[in-house]
Amino acid sequence: MGIVLQADTAELEIQSKQPVLAILTVDDEIQMFRGNRSNFADLIQAGGEHGFIVYVVTVKQLKLTRKQLDGFTFDASTESWVMQKFPFPDLIYNRIPLREDELLPEVKQKIAACMKNPRVKLFNPAFFNKWSLFKWLRMSKSTQPFIPTTRRMLTQGGLGKMMIKHKFLYLKPISGKAGKGIMTIQLQPEKPLPYRLKIQADKKSITYNCGTINKLWVRIKKESTGERYIAQQGIQLASFNERSFDLRALVQKNQRGQWDISGIGARVAGSLSITTHVPRGGSIDDPEKLLISAFGHEEARKLLVKTHNTALTIAKQIERGSRRRLVEMSLDLGVDQEGNIWFFEANAKPMKFDEPDIRKRSLDRIFQYGHYVLNKKAGKKGAV
Ligand SMILES: Nc1ncnc2c1ncn2[C@@H]1O[C@H](COP(=O)(O)OP(=O)(O)O)[C@@H](O)[C@H]1O
Ligand SMILES: [Mg+2]
Repeated sequence: MGIVLQADTAELEIQSKQPVLAILTVDDEIQMFRGNRSNFADLIQAGGEHGFIVYVVTVKQLKLTRKQLDGFTFDASTESWVMQKFPFPDLIYNRIPLREDELLPEVKQKIAACMKNPRVKLFNPAFFNKWSLFKWLRMSKSTQPFIPTTRRMLTQGGLGKMMIKHKFLYLKPISGKAGKGIMTIQLQPEKPLPYRLKIQADKKSITYNCGTINKLWVRIKKESTGERYIAQQGIQLASFNERSFDLRALVQKNQRGQWDISGIGARVAGSLSITTHVPRGGSIDDPEKLLISAFGHEEARKLLVKTHNTALTIAKQIERGSRRRLVEMSLDLGVDQEGNIWFFEANAKPMKFDEPDIRKRSLDRIFQYGHYVLNKKAGKKGAV
């Protein structure tokens, strides 16, 4: 009896030491929970390899006073998601997929409660909005050189003033993603219809030429459907086979708790698109190849190092500006035809990178950083 009891206690102890990470999302009437299921399944698998128990939990299932929670795991043998009980998590990884969901009062409250709760550490508190990012990056001399001139698009007068200095502008919804709602304006004063407005449609862009800024403004207002927008200096991106490309850097905290580059990918624009998004006809390519073709070997090597360092500087400043603990972000960076690097946006919930090496590293890093955070926490407890 005594021996059995000992064995039981030992097992319990081992179990309780296994770190637990819950992937936070919102529930869904039809499919139980929302979010990228294959990403969640990959996280569960990678977590297992790093000694973690990983499961999906919805905001509703996350009850902060319980010892156990209902959650979902992926059963590979039946290829289905099953609900079961799991231990309360040490770490919560926020992957709520949509901004709208994150703004629901019950979701906001739960996230705020998680941030205050000493039992859990929350990874990635919320989406960024494009305007805040620019405010934060303007605050530091280290990041100022990389940000295009950016204003909120509030009035026709304001837009007109911006166009005196910048003949090429990007208009972007503050809470946008995946190229939705993006427009460009090109001012060509010598033409009879000098204002050229391009609007991103599914895979192509639609062009309107207008004679006056009044007409341009009416059209923009009609297209922007009440969304808040920023107007931004347009950058003439470097190109490959006459297609613009930009860079995507994935920046994550590593096993020492420091910001680190997990990978840099490149996206080449579709021939008819004003953005480089893959669903809009863009394609994935190798940054080194593209940079060599645009700038030659030596300059390309320097640019890659510069991109690496710039991405780290920007990530640190975003974390400082946001006054929140962040774990990862992806950065959209442009390289102009002169070889200057420009910041376009940061995503607090990076999409899956399709490059296999970056993908693998990105999954591993979540858990390596997870171990770091939990060891630090345990260390602190011991010292007190
Ligand atoms: N100021 C700009 N100058 C040139 N290209 C831009 C500019 N802003 C955005 N782009 C292009 O459009 C893409 C989408 O812009 P981004 O700000 O990332 O919006 P989204 O949230 O829709 O991804 C960028 O990756 C880049 O290719
Ligand atoms: Mg983007």
